[in-house]
Amino acid sequence: MKIAKNTKELNSLKGNTRPVGFVPTMGALHKGHFSLVNEAVRHTPLTVISIFVNPTQFNDENDLKNYPRDLQKDLNNLDRILRENDIVYVPMEKEIYPEPDNRIFDFGHLDKIMEGKNRPGHFNGVGQVVSVLFRLVNPDLTFFGEKDLQQLAIIRKLVEMLKIPVSVVGMPIVRESDGLAMSSRNQLLGKNERKAAPVIYKSLLEAVNLRKKEKIEIVKEKTIRQINKSPYLSVEYFEIVDETTLLPVKSWNESTDIYGCIAVKAGEIRLIDNIKF
Ligand code: PAJ
Repeated sequence: MKIAKNTKELNSLKGNTRPVGFVPTMGALHKGHFSLVNEAVRHTPLTVISIFVNPTQFNDENDLKNYPRDLQKDLNNLDRILRENDIVYVPMEKEIYPEPDNRIFDFGHLDKIMEGKNRPGHFNGVGQVVSVLFRLVNPDLTFFGEKDLQQLAIIRKLVEMLKIPVSVVGMPIVRESDGLAMSSRNQLLGKNERKAAPVIYKSLLEAVNLRKKEKIEIVKEKTIRQINKSPYLSVEYFEIVDETTLLPVKSWNESTDIYGCIAVKAGEIRLIDNIKF
């Protein structure tokens, strides 16, 4: 594997090999990230992974400050799964934002619901960094996790709006053995919160079972109540939505592809998860 610290190095290491696979990340890598990287390696002769903690997508300064960073460990782990010519791109902030990025994207309703409502400006920042990274890396295929289902929808919209010639591949959620969706933020959880957190996925599985006999409103209520029973967890939202529009559905037969999307506050840490009904 090769390391590129700037765009010049990236371009010279890339050469003309195509198709290029690309996995953007913010580091503190775990098995969820590695599943995207492995898929990229499987499908392309050249894979680029970027590690960049993007300040413009953090609407909370403390969250940015506390975001876990361990570049050396990430590089050691990536070295085990990447091939000789694959590239880890670790740009400096100046490289991505030589000037402040003032672009405002119009994602329609997609950035105004769920995560968008609770983290104002977050998806605009994601749009900024991912559009810059796509321009610099110029990939043919790019891999994103369904863990961040709303982000995946935003990326598809961004690619369509900016007419970027890249195929976006969505990858299933990778979980800890107790069901907690893997996330870089999990390592920031307190002991009690970490112990309580698996009830989120457990409740989502129960919600799917309840579908057969209960109306959507009841399933929502029961799921939220179950999780809120823990003194360490508090549900921010639980929405039952159509997969493509991400808009809430009112009855089970309103759509064929329904997802339950949840955000839970565990102490100071926000956890998100989702499940297909
Ligand atoms: P980050 O949180 O590092 O995630 C990078 C990619 O890994 C995203 O596509 C995310 O959905 C995926 N991922 C994270 N946890 C996963 C899991 N448990 N299972 C499957 N995939 C998982 O998402 C970002 O960074 C940033 O917003 C980014 C797109 C890099 C822009 O800064």
